Amino acid sequence: MKMTFIQLAAALILAGKAYAANLPALTDTCLGCHQSTVSVATGAPLLAGQQAFYLQKQLQQFQSGQRGANATDVRGQQMAAMAAMLSAADIQALARYFSQQQADTPAVAADAALLDQGRRMYIGSCGACHGAKAQGNMAFNAPALSMLNADYIALQLQHFKTGLRGKDKTDKPGRQMALISRSLSEQDMQAVAAYIGAGMP
Ligand code: HEC
Ligand code: HEC
Repeated sequence: MKMTFIQLAAALILAGKAYAANLPALTDTCLGCHQSTVSVATGAPLLAGQQAFYLQKQLQQFQSGQRGANATDVRGQQMAAMAAMLSAADIQALARYFSQQQADTPAVAADAALLDQGRRMYIGSCGACHGAKAQGNMAFNAPALSMLNADYIALQLQHFKTGLRGKDKTDKPGRQMALISRSLSEQDMQAVAAYIGAGMP
């Protein structure tokens, strides 16, 4: 049965504290939107294989309103409602759990010229922080990008550029990424997102 967002949220609220001690039930809820088979349709990025420090930071930011608080950010608002139900212990356990899972990313075809532009961009402007294979680098607070799809990447780059992410004074990593995003044109974003989303061929 397919659950609507409201049903999922209600189920989480009703279950309340029971989830804190029940990691499998909690991760099942997450995978309702974040699993590879539904991730593109729901707009929820894959979490498997993401850096734990980054997952933890994002969940805290959804809770504090640094991410997903704006009314125009429909997907962020959905996730903020989910994050609001998590305890600090849940967040830690979930971040650890998903960082230890293997991402299964489907192969995606894309235009060769676009991929070429994206590859040059990635090597020149992204790899230094995000890693040669987009595996992420905790030393630079940079998340893995390798498991993300092109639409999600392009949307996040726009969110950094328009200030929906990385605006808070205390959010140094976010501000860093926001600064980079401001040097990217719409075409740059599409190209680099297509390249990463296609598995960096
Ligand atoms: C109703 C669907 C839904 C459910 C259920 C859900 N999420 Fe999300 N989540 C999203 C969407 C959509 C986004 C993308 C938000 C955006 O575009 O900024 C997201 C984003 C995230 C991010 C940010 C990832 C990144 O790469 O920046 C994390 C972390 C996250 N979710 C963790 C979780 C966890 C942990 C759970 C389970 C407790 C969960 N989500 C349950 C929809 C959902
Ligand atoms: C100076 C280091 C640095 C460089 C260079 C850099 N990034 Fe980032 N990027 C970051 C950091 C730090 C974050 C985490 C921001 C946060 O915590 O909110 C990030 C976050 C992101 C995200 C959000 C991922 C998610 O799961 O939501 C995307 C997408 C991204 N970067 C793409 C790029 C692309 C594409 C380039 C090259 C054009 C690039 N970055 C260059 C440091 C960098």
